[in-house]
Amino acid sequence: MEIKKIAKDVLKKKELKNLNEKFAEEKIIIFLKENPKIKKKLEDADEKTLHKKKEYKELIKEIRNQLRILYGVFITNDYSKREKYLEELKEDPSLDNHKKILLCHRSSIERIDDYEEIYKKIFSITGKPKKVLDLACGLNPISYIFMNCKPEYFASDLSKKDMDFLQKYFDIMKIKGKTKDLDLVKDYEELKEISKDVNITFLFKALDSLETIKKNITKEIMPNIKSKHIIVSFPTASIGGRKKIKKEKRNWFEKLIKKSFSLEHSFETKNEFFYVIKVDR
Ligand SMILES: C[S@@+](CC[C@H](N)C(=O)[O-])C[C@H]1O[C@@H](n2cnc3c(N)ncnc32)[C@H](O)[C@@H]1O
Repeated sequence: MEIKKIAKDVLKKKELKNLNEKFAEEKIIIFLKENPKIKKKLEDADEKTLHKKKEYKELIKEIRNQLRILYGVFITNDYSKREKYLEELKEDPSLDNHKKILLCHRSSIERIDDYEEIYKKIFSITGKPKKVLDLACGLNPISYIFMNCKPEYFASDLSKKDMDFLQKYFDIMKIKGKTKDLDLVKDYEELKEISKDVNITFLFKALDSLETIKKNITKEIMPNIKSKHIIVSFPTASIGGRKKIKKEKRNWFEKLIKKSFSLEHSFETKNEFFYVIKVDR
């Protein structure tokens, strides 16, 4: 049984195809460790008919489900058009052409009308940054056009292909920008070095899903961020805006800030709640 082949199978779904194979492989290995009976059945199966076994189908379904919750669910049907839109932006870097790309990711769709106001509010408290770090960034770096300043930018998220796309954007726009694929659940130690000369770190709508993967991971991630400010946001409605998310769901985070950080400001937009956090050192 080849884990690499299984990972390739898992990533055949349109909304998952840009994820790193290695990331899928790690999830498969964990699943098989936690389900030794399934592992044994698959190991004993004939390689040629493996994919027909009910245990194999169960494994593929479970891993796809995990990856969908943390990545695939944010990918719109138009996500693959972003390359074409970037070509258009190269010819004409207008606001409309930026918006077309931002509308390819569900998280940026939800704040498309609020971007200007959000950055204005944040920078009125923190000052305009010279360098920004955007973690679990999705397509948010494309909102650079709304910032009304020209910071250096370091963007990171799970997928190398997605980071290559953002690097192309930075190069086209001549933004001093870098990208790196990082899994915040395990690569958080790297943040110390990456964030050392950064003014503001964005952690937009990321912590709630990271916490579902590993409880208390926020307590590991935040102390490794060395910027003076960290802006953390949470959605206040479910994807698509159908259901309100109660503010009590953020109690754990407010407790954590009280204990280890100082909250400089908080504000709310249509469907997102922002914390402007100052890191005391
Ligand atoms: C709700 S989206 C937010 C995207 C972006 N921050 C925004 O608000 O526009 C959550 C993001 O977290 C990323 N993500 C999920 N698990 C991650 C992990 N372990 N490490 C890094 N990023 C992760 C997803 O790929 C996705 O882009």
